[in-house]
Amino acid sequence: MPLESAPWNSRGRAKRTVFLSKSPISAKPNISFILYISTGLLAFLIPCSILSSPHPPLGGILRYAILSDIHGNLDALRSVLQALENQAINSYICLGDIVGYGPQPSECLHEIQKYCSAIVSGNHDLAACGLININSFNTLAKEAILWTRSKLTETDLQYLANLPLEDRAESCHLVHGTLYAPELFDYVQSSYDAHLTMSKMDAPVCFVGHSHVPVTFVQGDSISYSVQSTYEIEPKKKAIVNVGSVGQPRDKDPRACYAVYDTDSLSVTIHRTTYDVEAVVTKVREAGLPGSLGERLRMGR
Ligand SMILES: [Fe+2]
Repeated sequence: MPLESAPWNSRGRAKRTVFLSKSPISAKPNISFILYISTGLLAFLIPCSILSSPHPPLGGILRYAILSDIHGNLDALRSVLQALENQAINSYICLGDIVGYGPQPSECLHEIQKYCSAIVSGNHDLAACGLININSFNTLAKEAILWTRSKLTETDLQYLANLPLEDRAESCHLVHGTLYAPELFDYVQSSYDAHLTMSKMDAPVCFVGHSHVPVTFVQGDSISYSVQSTYEIEPKKKAIVNVGSVGQPRDKDPRACYAVYDTDSLSVTIHRTTYDVEAVVTKVREAGLPGSLGERLRMGR
């Protein structure tokens, strides 16, 4: 069935809730002798399982890597994945906009599929599939979407078309734009925007992307925001954390941006990593995409 005639649109797409499975640790048998014998074995097996697979068991997760807005920038994505190798990550999450703007959309999608256990859709992902009208996109974005669509396989397009608009892990919400109306792809840029999303939250944290600017909104007597790189979660105060953009930062810092959420220390840290921006500028030009899409990467805007 052609994507354009799919029997649903982005507004009607199902939301999804993921309940993570119990870990081997939380399934401890209630017999002290077996516990004594198994402790040493578990201590050996668990680190091995984490190190040996990009999809370790989801239960007992302590550290999430949260990536958003890759936008077809494979060099930036690989620099992030490499930087995360030694950060004891248990699960990778993607907040959408895997494609659009950049020269390697299919390669980025396949890398995200390989690593991530939860992925939500971004407006550029749905635009590439023809599920969002691109008339509202600016000229550059529109041109890039048409180019991107021509480079993705039917399988890639079907995969993107079926991503959920929002997702839920044990202790956080995941959405590209807002939790209030995920299908509209609005931005969380003001206290009022944050209030609307917080009104839909029943977990202490909601991770978002979309604006390409890392910032955290926190609920207190009023809603405040912070651009500090580390946020200590206060369970009784809701927070919305924008994790920035891997492939097209817009905060005047050209380095790839991502977040690590540690559910043990209850902290979220924004990280930056360098990559070969000039190589991507060349790839953009050679792909026949508008040259300004490469040049903006140099300035992080
Ligand atoms: Fe984006």
